[in-house]
Amino acid sequence: MSRLLVTGGAGFIGSNFVHYVLEHTEHSVTVLDKLTYAGNLASLDGLPAERFRFVHGDITDAALVDALFSEHDAVVHYAAESHNDNSLDDPRPFLETNIVGTYTLLEAARKHAIRFHHISTDEVYGDLELDDPARFTEQTPYNPSSPYSSTKAGSDLLVRAWVRSFGVQATISNCSNNYGPYQHVEKFIPRQITNVLRGERPKLYGSGENVRDWIHANDHSSAVLTILERGVIGETYLIGADGEKNNKDVVELILDQLGQPTDAYDLVNDRPGHDLRYAIDSTRLRSELGWAPKYSDFESGLADTIAWYRDHESWWAPQKDATEARYKAQGQ
Ligand code: NAD
Ligand code: DAU
Repeated sequence: MSRLLVTGGAGFIGSNFVHYVLEHTEHSVTVLDKLTYAGNLASLDGLPAERFRFVHGDITDAALVDALFSEHDAVVHYAAESHNDNSLDDPRPFLETNIVGTYTLLEAARKHAIRFHHISTDEVYGDLELDDPARFTEQTPYNPSSPYSSTKAGSDLLVRAWVRSFGVQATISNCSNNYGPYQHVEKFIPRQITNVLRGERPKLYGSGENVRDWIHANDHSSAVLTILERGVIGETYLIGADGEKNNKDVVELILDQLGQPTDAYDLVNDRPGHDLRYAIDSTRLRSELGWAPKYSDFESGLADTIAWYRDHESWWAPQKDATEARYKAQGQ
């Protein structure tokens, strides 16, 4: 039984992991979260008070981080500025949280000799051509495209340096695009679902041909727990569930599942520097650590996700108008 500190645990994937750990293990969990626009305490409702604690704070606050690290056995680091479009508008918060924040945590991990797992993204590898038979592996060279992905790449390299130079007991995982309940309405799938629920049309960037490799957030959480428990210190593991789909196909599925004509969407301005395709080869995680995804049927996972957004308008509605106003200003 361990005391886990989860940074960014009020966000989409971090909150999923907190629920997953409390349901599937005996560990206790403390969440450290700044509650930016992306953090939502309602995503942590219903957790057992005797095993769960919330701390409102910033991962760049070295004194707070030091105090928390002294009380925990392991840290799982999700906190980040996570949205590419925002990073194109204003990169500075991405540098502060993703780079300086990760540095602050690593210095505390070094001081307290604490187990550290760093959550990262497949976007550090850049993108692939649509017809490229290759997928990303742990050996793919880093080639990030956006301010977001370059700060995530930088944070990964800091973790590797702190392992090698200071002996920090860290692992890294790089996962593909997550979907599921509790995802902010700025992201692709929730934006389109909530648009249709509000009588608005989905918005596809460019021609809609870009491909993402979708994984259910529950599968991401089970993979992270596996790596935390059985991963080799200093190693990187790619997490993916063979879920490649282009954006147009996803929008058509959403429209179809919501009973709308499948061509009832708008093509809008493309994202500058828009990565064309991501694809993960997760052989290492599966063969060395025995992990396998459970949510391999995307259409049924999407139907469950649509049902969740239909039933939880009070969770997403407060963010919807401001999010759409920002997109409108960008012609998206
Ligand atoms: P999110 O934007 O939904 O949540 C981020 C959380 O971090 C929020 O609760 C926010 O309040 C918190 N936070 C931000 N800055 C902070 C700071 N300075 N101090 C403390 N807390 C802070 O993000 P997400 O989609 O859940 O992503 C979580 C992590 O997973 C990120 O590191 C991201 O790079 C990575 N990731 C995301 C995906 C995806 O598809 N969403 C895929 C692979 C990896
Ligand atoms: O691959 C992992 C990454 O996935 C994570 O590291 C990021 O934190 C996460 O945000 C996500 O990045 P993407 O940029 O791929 O996700 P996003 O939801 O912003 O967009 C998914 C795709 O959909 C992308 O090709 C852009 C497109 N898109 C997005 C929006 C918001 C649209 O076509 N229309 C939209 O309205």
